[in-house]
Amino acid sequence: MANGQEKEAAGRAAAELARDGDVVGLGTGSTAYFAVVALGERVKAGLKIIGIPTSLQTADLARAVGIRLTTLDEHPEIDITIDGADEVDPKLNLIKGGGGALLREKVVAFASRKMVVVADSAKIVAVLGKFPLPVEVISFARGVVERKIVSLGASPKLRTKPDGSAYLTDNGNQILDCSFGEIADPPALALALSNTPGIVEHGLFIGLASVTLVGRGDRVEELRR
Ligand code: A5P
Repeated sequence: MANGQEKEAAGRAAAELARDGDVVGLGTGSTAYFAVVALGERVKAGLKIIGIPTSLQTADLARAVGIRLTTLDEHPEIDITIDGADEVDPKLNLIKGGGGALLREKVVAFASRKMVVVADSAKIVAVLGKFPLPVEVISFARGVVERKIVSLGASPKLRTKPDGSAYLTDNGNQILDCSFGEIADPPALALALSNTPGIVEHGLFIGLASVTLVGRGDRVEELRR
C-alpha cells in the first residue's frame, strides 16, 4: 500500500481516540493532516472537542474543517495529542520537525497526558538518525551553534526556501538540518543540544510518545514502549 494510504489509515485510527470534552493537540504534517480532517468529520457528527494547533498551517486546516481552537494559556493541560514523526525507534523516541513545527509540537506533546504518534511504515527504524535532525536556532547564535553541532558529529545545513533565503519557523527562527547518521544515545544527544545556548529546540522527542499507530499495508499496528 502506498505511503499516503498508510498515513491516512493511521491518522483516521488516531482520530477515533478523541472523546467528548477532550482538549486535543493537533499535529503538523501530511499524516497529522488526515487525523485533523477525520476529527473535523467527527465534530460535524457531534463530537465536542477543542483543539490546540502546533502550527499556523494546522490552525488554518482545523478552522476549515470546523474544529474550535483554544490556546495553552486557556488550556495548559491537553488530554490527547495526535502528531506525525519523521522517525520512530523501538523505545518510541522520535525525530520530528521535518515540517518545521518542532518547537510548538514539543511544547504541545509535553503538555499532553497522551501523545499518539501517527506514521506510515517507512518511519519505523531500529536506530534514529538517518533523517537529518532539525534544530531550531535564533539567527544571532547560528555560527556558535553550528560549531557545537560539528563537535557533536554532524554537518549542519541551513534550511532554505526555494528562493535560497533562510526558511523561518512560525516563531521567526531558523532551522539547521543536522545529519548525525546513527544516533547511538538519543537522550545524551538531546541533553547536549538542550544545553547549548542559542538552540531554541531540537527535534529529538525523548519519552514523550505514549503510543504509535503505524499504517502497514492495509492494517494499523499499535506500538508501545
Ligand atoms: C512537522 O514539523 C513534523 O514534525 C512532522 O510531524 C513530521 O515531519 C512528519 O511529517 P509527515 O507526516 O508529513 O511525514
